[in-house]
Amino acid sequence: MLLTNRVAIITGGAVGMGRSMAHKFAEEGCSIVISDISDSSGRKTADEVSKKGGEAIFVQCDVTNNSQVQDMVNTAISKLGKIDILVNNAGALGTTWSLEEVSEEDWDNILDLNLKSVFLCCKAVVPLMKEGKYGRIINISSMGAVSPPRSVVHYHAAKAGVISLTQNLALELVSFNIHVNAIVPGPIRTEYYEPRLKNMTDAQREDYFVTKGKTTPMQRMGKPEEIAAVALFLATEPSSYITGEAMNVAGGLPLMALVI
Ligand SMILES: NC(=O)c1ccc[n+]([C@@H]2O[C@H](COP(=O)([O-])OP(=O)(O)OC[C@H]3O[C@@H](n4cnc5c(N)ncnc54)[C@H](O)[C@@H]3O)[C@@H](O)[C@H]2O)c1
Repeated sequence: MLLTNRVAIITGGAVGMGRSMAHKFAEEGCSIVISDISDSSGRKTADEVSKKGGEAIFVQCDVTNNSQVQDMVNTAISKLGKIDILVNNAGALGTTWSLEEVSEEDWDNILDLNLKSVFLCCKAVVPLMKEGKYGRIINISSMGAVSPPRSVVHYHAAKAGVISLTQNLALELVSFNIHVNAIVPGPIRTEYYEPRLKNMTDAQREDYFVTKGKTTPMQRMGKPEEIAAVALFLATEPSSYITGEAMNVAGGLPLMALVI
């Protein structure tokens, strides 16, 4: 197993990509802290992992709140003893997108959730990784940060900030054996799309996902397991010479401009 005796915090680990990563890491022997704002789905995922023989605890935490982040990290240490891997995965798109629609409050909320949270979690965890002389940090950005399919001013700016933060932390932490990388997902079929699909029938939802998938050269949306597989790579020995990278996992999406 690739992650025996390792401990990982996965923020936003209750559903979607985070849930998939929790399962995949646990299958490789990793102990998991599933951290999420959602109590019911967070507990459910921790139970699922435990029932499959993995070690997982749920710690409720709003990653935009510094004292909750500190408490979450303290709980992780008191229950599991150390933190080797941090996946900064919690995030959301919001419901307003254009410059005209987005209020100052929307801007602050989306920047806090998608960018400040990464800073807060790294600030809480990195001193412990330094003590342990080992760390793997994986930050989840978005294809919209580098190649936006449409204007989403706050979310795409935040996710671009995630790539910059990844590069800066990679430089700052490389001499401590702490590697910092980002994953840049294309469209992945998860609960992330729920705010936009609330009033749709099942058939309309399917149509939406098929159409969305066709925006990629692979002509389909990605699956959360396909993000989890790359996160596993970045958390384990096969990626030992990689830091400061932002890896596209997007069905060839950045090539689309060349295809059209
Ligand atoms: N799904 C996509 O197409 C896509 C594409 C690009 C990037 N992303 C990014 O990937 C990451 C994972 O997305 P997903 O698709 O699995 O989304 P998801 O909506 O399925 O899961 C997000 C999780 O984050 C949690 N969360 C939300 N706000 C939180 C907060 N304040 N504190 C703690 N947890 C919070 C939610 O409860 C949920 O469990 C996000 O950062 C998202 O922005 C998603």
